[in-house]
This record gives sequence, structure tokens and C-alpha cells, in this order.
Amino acid sequence: MPEHIAIIMDGNGRWAKEKGESRIVGHYEGVVSVRDIVEGCGELNIKYLTLYAFSTENWNRPKVEVDALMELLVSTIRKEADHLKRNNVRLQVIGNMDDLPEICKIEMQEGIDLTADCTGLTLILALSYSSKWEILEAVKAIAAEVKAGSLDINNIDEALFARHLTTANYPDPELLIRTSGECRISNFLLYQIAYAELYFTEVHWPDFRKVHLYEAIKDYQLRERRFGKTSEQLI
Ligand code: FPP
Repeated sequence: MPEHIAIIMDGNGRWAKEKGESRIVGHYEGVVSVRDIVEGCGELNIKYLTLYAFSTENWNRPKVEVDALMELLVSTIRKEADHLKRNNVRLQVIGNMDDLPEICKIEMQEGIDLTADCTGLTLILALSYSSKWEILEAVKAIAAEVKAGSLDINNIDEALFARHLTTANYPDPELLIRTSGECRISNFLLYQIAYAELYFTEVHWPDFRKVHLYEAIKDYQLRERRFGKTSEQLI
């Protein structure tokens, strides 16, 4: 079983278009999938689930869609926080929280505080997140420590760099799923997925259910994870 699954939830807009609905209807339906997959991961004792809910680049969408997504995030967290706590799910957020509307920041923080002691699944929402932003922030922080004399340049290694990323407290994902047929990473966890298994499915996110999660995990379990070694070395 993977300990950490990351998902690029894609295809809400196309799902809605195919049904003759507005893109926003697709995002609302996407929340139903989020609920199902969070529950599914909990049942499977997966420890970490990271969902790409809003990228830095998503700010460039039409204002009406951005506003609707922010409202949806606020209302979903408001509605679901108690449910998460009852199910022992700890909520966390990665991304540039400074960019988010005040109400969104407040609601997220309340959800994080309410579920802080939960010990089951850790649900990490990537909000206003992009990997290039995160890596640059880490570089700036490390450079500042070197300049201040608190860090020797020779002590910069992979572990130190990882500790400066927003994901410092979580293990790297072993499995990355992207729905809706696109085969790209779109600025998501670039450093952390160095050795993740990638799984792409045609299913649009609003149609993605536990059964699709199980298919992805089964596929992952058939992969030979060599980490640069040969097959023979793994025996
Ligand atoms: C990608 O589909 C989806 C998003 C940019 C937003 C994802 C948000 C949700 C599922 C709802 C809120 C989530 C939580 C965790 C409460 P797209 O719009 O890019 O679809 P398209 O590629 O078909 O246009």
C-alpha cells in the first residue's frame, strides 16, 4: 500500500461541458468525489492524501470561476470540518496562503485547528500552490540562512532542502494520480515525485470514485520500484 497518494483532480470543466452545464457545476460535483476518495483512503489506512485543489496558475481563470472555487472551498470546509474530525482526518494546507481571500484563510485555519489532534488520514489541500513557487521560496530561505551565517553551504543536502519545502512534515508520495486523460504534472510536487509512480486515467474527476482509486492502487502494486537499481538487486 502506498503511504502517500497525491492527486491532480482534473476534468471538472469537461465533465460539466459534456452535460451541457457550466464549469462551476463540475467543481461542485468534484466535491462529491473528494468526499468519496477521502473516505476510501481512510478505509485503506492510507496515511497521507494530497489533493491539487487550486494552482498558482488557476488565478488566471475568469474571475467568476475563481470566486466560485473560493466560495466552494470555504463552504466545503465549513460543512465538512466536523465530519473530518469525527472520522479522525487531519486537515493540512500547502501553498501560498497569503494569496487566498481572508475568509478562505480563516476557514482553512479553523479546519486545521479543529482536526489537529486527528491521527488517521492526513488530508493535504494544495491551494494557490505551485512547485516552482515552493522551490524558489526554499532557495530564498536557504540563501538567507547562509547569508546570516547560520548555515554552512556544505551542509545543504537533499534532506535539508526537503525540510524547507511546504511538505517538510510529510513523506514523498509514492503514487501520483491524474484524472481526465492529460499526461502532465502541471507544476505539482516536482521535487517530491522524483520516484513516484505516475498513473493517468481518462475518468473525469467528478466521476472518480473509490473503485477507480482501487484500480490505481492495484496498478501501483504491479510496478517494480527499482530506485535506480537493477531487478536482480531487489530480490
Ligand atoms: C480541475 O478541473 C479542477 C480544479 C481546478 C479545481 C478542483 C476543485 C475541486 C474538485 C473542488 C474543491 C475541492 C476541495 C478539496 C474542497 P478543470 O476545471 O481544469 O477541468 P477541465 O480541465 O476539464 O477544464
